[in-house]
Amino acid sequence: MTPSGQGPLHSPLGLLAELTHRCPLGCPYCSNPLALDTREDELDTATWARVLAEAAALGVLQVHLSGGEPAARRDLVDITAAAHAAGLYTNLITSAVGITEKTLGALADVGLDHVQISIQDSEASSADHIAGYDGAFARKRALASEVVRLKLPLTVNAVMHRANIDRVEDMVELALSLGASRVEIAHVQYYGWGLKNRAMLMPTRAQVERAAATVEELRTRHHGRIVIDAVVPDYHARYPKPCVGGWGRRSLNVTPAGKVLPCHAAESIAGLKFWNVREHALADIWANSPAFNAFRGTAWMKEPCASCPRREQDFGGCRCQAFALTGDAAAADPVCHLSPDHAKVAELAAVQSDEPYVYRRM
Ligand code: SF4
Ligand code: FES
Repeated sequence: MTPSGQGPLHSPLGLLAELTHRCPLGCPYCSNPLALDTREDELDTATWARVLAEAAALGVLQVHLSGGEPAARRDLVDITAAAHAAGLYTNLITSAVGITEKTLGALADVGLDHVQISIQDSEASSADHIAGYDGAFARKRALASEVVRLKLPLTVNAVMHRANIDRVEDMVELALSLGASRVEIAHVQYYGWGLKNRAMLMPTRAQVERAAATVEELRTRHHGRIVIDAVVPDYHARYPKPCVGGWGRRSLNVTPAGKVLPCHAAESIAGLKFWNVREHALADIWANSPAFNAFRGTAWMKEPCASCPRREQDFGGCRCQAFALTGDAAAADPVCHLSPDHAKVAELAAVQSDEPYVYRRM
């Protein structure tokens, strides 16, 4: 049990290792916090190796080596080797910019299991504009073909928003042509950088409905050729998603500077205290840190969640979104149509702007 009786303590299954916040791209919906960790703050190789071994001992099965751009670290191969040696399934999440074929080959040699490449659009000029980096699209294509040549499984991650959502079919065709076995149609999440750029990124309801119908048709058309993962974007849904599979239930996130978070955006919630792997063992943080215990189980919930039959399915939705939209991280996610703040979501979804993006730069 957790210390304050919040139900059984599960083992985490996945760990997102944000190895660095450094990244050559400037995506306006980046999931990193607005206050980025500097290179001087980053954990060293030995600490990452220790954290990964502790994660495996705690029950974690998969590590997502992410960032920023993880290849900005010169010791990416050593960290990947340490994860493999700990028995973890290793997934590299890369922008494909700043990673050489040689590094990719070395990663495959030390046991890298899977590669996920983000692609900003199916058209080069738009993709480069969204990424804030000329030539990014061409590099992504080149790295994807190298991933396939090395016989590593490839997932394409396509983050959708107003500028590219009408090309969802082209994105899936592109993923197929690159040899991906899976494509994730992910909609922008509006916290951190996404919140800053919300009006510039927000699709119209008509766009969302067209894209949802297209995805259904593509799933039938390409059944057995590529797996298409897609969910309805938050602001246009009726119920919220069970964000991160429930707070402190299935996953954890280690920042470049070693803070351990229940989700990638948890630092956007004011008042939470995060423990650091420099001072605590991962198992201690998972079981006892105040941030992990803040929203575990259902005891923290208010109405309408507290008595809702869905509370063990969606866990009241996303804590970060509840905080961003209501100022109360223990409120129901306003995406839920039962939330007293639900009308705000429709109001915000109607606000659109063609101002330039605020790019994520360090
Ligand atoms: Fe989920 Fe709370 Fe809405 Fe019920 S009221 S569906 S638990 S967010
Ligand atoms: Fe933090 Fe959803 S992103 S709980």
